[in-house]
Amino acid sequence: MLGVEDLRSGYGRIEALHGVSLEVRAGEIVTLVGGNGAGKTTLLRAISGVQPVTGGRVLFEGADVTRLSPHRRVELGIAQVPEGRQIFGPLSVEDNLRLGAYRKTHGAAEVGKDLDKIFAMFPILAERRRNPAGGLSGGQQQMLAIGRALMGRPRLLLLDEPSMGLAPILVDQILAAIVDLRSEGVTVFLVEQNAFAALSIADRGYVIETGTIAKEGSGKALIEDPAVREAYLGV
Ligand SMILES: Nc1ncnc2c1ncn2[C@@H]1O[C@H](COP(=O)(O)OP(=O)(O)OP(=O)(O)O)[C@@H](O)[C@H]1O
Ligand SMILES: [Mg+2]
Repeated sequence: MLGVEDLRSGYGRIEALHGVSLEVRAGEIVTLVGGNGAGKTTLLRAISGVQPVTGGRVLFEGADVTRLSPHRRVELGIAQVPEGRQIFGPLSVEDNLRLGAYRKTHGAAEVGKDLDKIFAMFPILAERRRNPAGGLSGGQQQMLAIGRALMGRPRLLLLDEPSMGLAPILVDQILAAIVDLRSEGVTVFLVEQNAFAALSIADRGYVIETGTIAKEGSGKALIEDPAVREAYLGV
């Protein structure tokens, strides 16, 4: 579904991605783990189109999307949940969700159905639907950011550190929601510093170190890999 081929990107003269290649197949949860500054966010932003690339290609369902604008990629079915969530604090929870649907042509009834699905997935958002989103806790804001991305009915969901700053119980809820999404046919590319959590739900994973893919394997194989355990799992 997603192919990244020899991708290069950076900031000014500093290259942050030194030729990254990976793939995500339809129906998979694939995770990218790596430390601070390894290039995870840069890669996700290059896939969604908000970060310029200086070499290589991004393929989505066989088509080269490297030069397409971010909004064209959204229309094709690629949705990114950005690091730090970026919700609209003064707007209500429900209006934040509705914003995620603004580009779609389906009518009010369809939007209402999508809202109901997200409220079923994250009941706390239903309880708070009329409240300003800025009053939500960090974990609830993360749920809202995921919900908003889902309102666009993506086929590929890109998540940047959804567990960051969350209490363990909320991390578990978010991970469970990601696993549910896969069973509903959404393909997920999950970027995490929380390597154990991410690898434990992933079909496959990649390890990125200073802009280069250092390892790949099944989630299970990477969790059991001694070098990965030492570097990323603290065991
Ligand atoms: N706006 C920017 N301007 C200049 N350099 C940047 C910018 N954003 C990131 N970088 C640099 O690019 C490299 C990759 O950063 P990136 O944010 O992609 O890493 P990351 O893996 O997402 O890290 P983290 O886990 O801290 O979010 C780092 O060396 C970082 O300092
Ligand atoms: Mg990052």
